[in-house]
Amino acid sequence: MYIPLFVIPMKKISIIGIGNVGRGLGEIWLEKGHEIRYDLRNEQNPAFLKLKEKYPFKVHGRPVNEVSDYSDILVLAVPYSSIEEIIPQLGDLSNKIIIDCANPVQPKLAGLSVGLSTSAAEEIARLAPKAHVVKAFNSVGMGNLNNLIFNGITADAFLCGDDERSKSVVGELAKDLGFNVVDVGPLTQARYLEPLAMLWISMAYQQGYGQEIAFKLLTK
Ligand SMILES: NC(=O)c1ccc[n+]([C@@H]2O[C@H](COP(=O)([O-])OP(=O)(O)OC[C@H]3O[C@@H](n4cnc5c(N)ncnc54)[C@H](OP(=O)(O)O)[C@@H]3O)[C@@H](O)[C@H]2O)c1
Repeated sequence: MYIPLFVIPMKKISIIGIGNVGRGLGEIWLEKGHEIRYDLRNEQNPAFLKLKEKYPFKVHGRPVNEVSDYSDILVLAVPYSSIEEIIPQLGDLSNKIIIDCANPVQPKLAGLSVGLSTSAAEEIARLAPKAHVVKAFNSVGMGNLNNLIFNGITADAFLCGDDERSKSVVGELAKDLGFNVVDVGPLTQARYLEPLAMLWISMAYQQGYGQEIAFKLLTK
């Protein structure tokens, strides 16, 4: 009988949305042994049905609804413009870890709709004051998740938040995805992480660098 030498502790993760971000993160976390429940507008979503077929016992789905005791970790993988509508539907978020990937990008990539004196992440924390919001996975295109090594260098996941334990949980999930983790400080740092994502977006889509790019913190 095969006995693994070590086992990654399995986590149950709720993901709201199954677009580029929800599907990308979910697929790799499933490969790593975690269990995912998707909260969806449409349970017949083809990406969801495909994942459900591949991992019948590890993927669950249901309409966006109150978070139950299913998971303490919740990923908002939806457009920022929908968040004000979604958060009240999630019920009691006390002590839940909310991973916020959203970038408040204006239509036609015309810039950010929120910024500098606040951030999408801080606005989410205001809507869910009893939760622990961690900003993460917002500053790299999800198309890179299947290979985060760039010419031998591992891409960084920059994350910020006010609760150290929550950041450590999200940091472990980031390592499962293959990132090197850089904790950039408290949640107010999202004011700078969101413009960093806007820089990624404009470089990838408007300045000709393409999507296979990522940012890296160099230290001496
Ligand atoms: N794409 C990237 O590479 C990337 C990278 C970093 C961060 N982000 C950020 O991550 C977020 C998600 O991006 P994405 O590319 O995954 O977007 P996407 O492909 O457009 O997917 C958005 C998902 O949100 C769901 N949704 C939209 N409005 C909703 C509502 N009112 N209630 C419930 N679900 C709703 C959609 O549901 P339906 O399937 O029913 O339409 C879809 O599943 C955005 O804020 C984006 O700025 C994106």
